[in-house]
Parts: sequence; C-alpha cells; structure tokens
Amino acid sequence: MAGNTFGKKFRLTTFGESHGLAIGGVVDGCPSGVSLDFEAIQYELDRRRPGQSAIVTQRKEADKVEFLSGVFEGKTTGAPIGFVVQNTNQKSGDYEHLKDVYRPSHADYTYDKKYGFRDYRGGGRSSARETISRVVGGAIAKQLMPEVKINAFVSSVGEIFIDKPYQALDFSLTETNDVRCPDLATAQKMEEYIRQIRKEGDTIGGTITCVIQNVPAGLGDPVFDKLHAELGKAMLSINAVKGFEYGSGFCGAKMRGSEHNDLFNPDGSTKSNLSGGIQGGISNGMDIYFRVAFKPVATIMQMQQTIDKNGNLLEMQGKGRHDPCVVPRAVPIVEAMAALVLADFLV
Ligand SMILES: Cc1cc2nc3c(=O)[nH]c(=O)nc-3n(C[C@H](O)[C@H](O)[C@H](O)COP(=O)(O)O)c2cc1C
Repeated sequence: MAGNTFGKKFRLTTFGESHGLAIGGVVDGCPSGVSLDFEAIQYELDRRRPGQSAIVTQRKEADKVEFLSGVFEGKTTGAPIGFVVQNTNQKSGDYEHLKDVYRPSHADYTYDKKYGFRDYRGGGRSSARETISRVVGGAIAKQLMPEVKINAFVSSVGEIFIDKPYQALDFSLTETNDVRCPDLATAQKMEEYIRQIRKEGDTIGGTITCVIQNVPAGLGDPVFDKLHAELGKAMLSINAVKGFEYGSGFCGAKMRGSEHNDLFNPDGSTKSNLSGGIQGGISNGMDIYFRVAFKPVATIMQMQQTIDKNGNLLEMQGKGRHDPCVVPRAVPIVEAMAALVLADFLV
C-alpha cells in the first residue's frame, strides 16, 4: 500500500489501523533544537478525540500520544520523530458483519478490489483514526511557525450555515461549543440538528472554513507544487472530504474581472482578497482562506440495500459507534493538514 507519506522536506509518514494495536507516525525533516510543547500537541489530539461530546462517536479512547524518538530533553534533535497512540477501546465484534459485506459509499469495496485482503475491523486503514497521526504531525508543524495563526471552524451543517464573512467572527469562540462554530446562535441550531439526525439513525454533511493569517509572501512552488494545489491535496486526502475551494472559489466563476480583481494598496497589500491570499500559486501575504466540504458519512443506522463479495444483494444496517456528523471532530484535522503544507514550504 503506497501513499502513506505527506510532504517533501517536512514529511509525515503514518501507520496503523482502527483496530490494530496502535496508530502512529514518523515526522522526518524537522529542524533540530525546537522546544516542543507536549501539552499543546495533546490538546490538539483532545480536540479530535472520539467521545468528547454527545454529538460525536461514543467510542471511548484516551488518545494519549507517546514519543519514541527524535526528542531529547524536550527539544527536537533533527532525527526522525516517532510517536504512537495506543488503540484501547476496540470492539471488533461490532464489525464481524462487514467481513464479506460492503457498506455503500465506504471504502470496503474499493479496498477489497485493490488489495484482495482487508482488515474490515472498524474500517482498518480507511478509518479516520489514521488522522490521529496527522494531528500530531500538524501540532509539531504549528510549533515551527508560532507567528502563523491557523483557525478552522465549522461553517455549515446541512443547510444551516454562518451567514457572515469570517472577518466578523471571533475565533476564540470556536472551542466554546461542541460543534466548533464561532457564531453561537448558528452553533446552537447546528447542534440541535445533529442531535435530531442522530436520533433518526442518519448522518449529515457540513463544511469547515479555515483562515490562515500572518503567512509571509513567497510560499508555494510553481508550477506543480502551487500553494493552493498542495492545500487542495492535503484537504482532499482527509476522510470523507468531497470538495475544496479557496478565495472566491466556485462563486468566482459567476463574477466579472472588474468585480473580482483585488486592487493593490501602495504597500502591496490588496483592498479586497478574493484571491484568498494566493496568486500564481504563491502566498501574497494576505489572509489565506479556504473551505472544505465533508459528506454525510456512510455508516447509517438504517436498513440499506448492498452486496456481499460474491455479488449477492442483501440488506444491512450500520452497527457500532459512529459519527452522525464529522465536521466538529475534523476541525483540528483541517488545521493540522494546513500546518503540514505550510511547514513543508517553510523549513
Ligand atoms: C473525523 C472523522 C470521523 C469519521 N467517522 C466516521 C464514522 O463514524 N463512520 C463512517 O462510516 N465514516 C466515518 N468517517 C469517514 C470515513 O473514514 C470515510 O468516509 C471512508 O474512509 C471512505 O472514504 P471517503 O469517504 O473519503 O471516500 C469519518 C471521517 C472523519 C474525518
């Protein structure tokens, strides 16, 4: 199975399956002498952790990270940083029914077609537990560039969305509610909706907006490694992501150049920022902002038609502990992937 490493200079390799012994990773290319704040790393994992509130999966995991190498007396040595997070709350019996059956719109069918042999427990390698390693890697990346501020938040759940530009939001409110939406009135509506969806045994999609401030001009390598192309790849590699747009995004396709152009101020900053802080694939020093669309995840507690590995049609219903809406837990994952992209250009 290829494709387990992200980045060129600041590289993260991840390993582990949902119901294996542990999830972990190796960060390679981290400069030496960086004092790591381990509490800050654990804090990011706690934001991703299952069981953190009533509107996420109730799998109970402490998700405590343990560092194995590359750190001495609290500082990075420049050697590969190895780390693990033990899996402690596997209920593999919940997944016995998936041994030969494919959940519609999950990764069961494609993994079987490609690899011919599949760890079906909890989705195996396709489980979002893999994103634990991304969050650890991203938390280290954030510490390499403390001046850069990365703030992601839930901007919509189903048809409920924040009806304000991000400049009108107070990002310090994001962590004050279970949904991770900084607009509190909207957060309450989203939370009620997610609770209702869960009661109905269904799932719902949503979007996350990410705003990155204090990025120096000059990050990004045209032509293939443009900054927005790397951000797009990073976001689209997250489980359940279906869309990525930055700056004006798909709205820009409806506009005229005379409306869309970001006119300059004498210091090189721009009066508007529909470019989303990136022009020609290179950061221009303005805020970088983008949106990521997450689908309603596949495992629903309702009867659906599917097939088994022999092509027999049958009915199945999801079992076990699942997320009715993944965006609240995906906020730290989006931030982590953004940090990994920026760190790769900065080191
Ligand atoms: C934080 C997070 C939690 C997730 N939890 C679940 C879940 O409980 N049940 C589920 O079926 N999928 C869940 N997913 C999505 C699956 O991992 C994903 O849909 C699957 O790997 C198939 O990949 P794809 O949707 O990207 O095609 C979650 C995704 C994220 C980001």
